[in-house]
Amino acid sequence: MYNLVIMEKRVNIEETLDWYIWAGVTETCATEVCLNNLLETLDISLSARSHPITPILKKNKDTLDTIHVNSSTASFDNIAKNARELCSKASSLDELKDLVQKFDGCNLKKTAANTVFGDGSPHARVVLIGEAPGADEDRIGSPFVGKCGKLLDKMLAAININRADCYITNVLPWRPPGNRTPTDEEVAICLPFLKRQIELIKPDFLLLLGGIALKSLLDVPDSISRTRGKWLEYVIDEQKTAQVLATYHPSYLLRSPSQKAKVWGDFLRLQKKMNCEE
Ligand code: URA
Repeated sequence: MYNLVIMEKRVNIEETLDWYIWAGVTETCATEVCLNNLLETLDISLSARSHPITPILKKNKDTLDTIHVNSSTASFDNIAKNARELCSKASSLDELKDLVQKFDGCNLKKTAANTVFGDGSPHARVVLIGEAPGADEDRIGSPFVGKCGKLLDKMLAAININRADCYITNVLPWRPPGNRTPTDEEVAICLPFLKRQIELIKPDFLLLLGGIALKSLLDVPDSISRTRGKWLEYVIDEQKTAQVLATYHPSYLLRSPSQKAKVWGDFLRLQKKMNCEE
């Protein structure tokens, strides 16, 4: 019988594990010191279990060489300003990726396994923007590689767009715990990274996947359901403005397949515009 002290309360580990398993927990996330202690205990108690769960040390690989921002004292505005200044120093996507991996001003990084930077062609005509990495993306370190990514690949293929010719990224490079909705502060801190990716690529088109991508990049009063399917503009810099289309996020389509027809219509709109047919 092993006991764990959490918040001054003694918790029975066997009972806690049973509760975790019942709740569907398959991974644990903790600091190294705390987890090492726990692992020793769990190894003993788990070896005799009929359906063990595997504790996985989730330590972001990128934290070793970090650009430190003291988030306890700095205001969110200052952290976001700091992120903007850092971004302006990056003159290529590789440099920017390196900066994002070293940046530690966003709390989400602490619970994420990987920094998920954008992926695809630096010369893409179209940039697709999602919300944040999910569990699969967090584990693998690339955007849209899980169920949503498979659906996205199929939709792109259906309009004869090769995923490798696009650039795919997210508003946030770190997975919010449990896929929760990101806070406004988290978006504000990470937005400069997204904007700099767009500045470096200078695409003709942006496809915004879901309400968070829409609200983060464009100051629109209406919801995604009212805005999707309409052409908008995003000013990249003095020389370049991208045509923007917002549509529903693939994860919403997986939950609500009846909405697929609308998104299919949006993808056809994008195809026509890219082929200069409208
Ligand atoms: N959902 C997103 O918004 N982005 C991903 O990369 C995966 C799922």
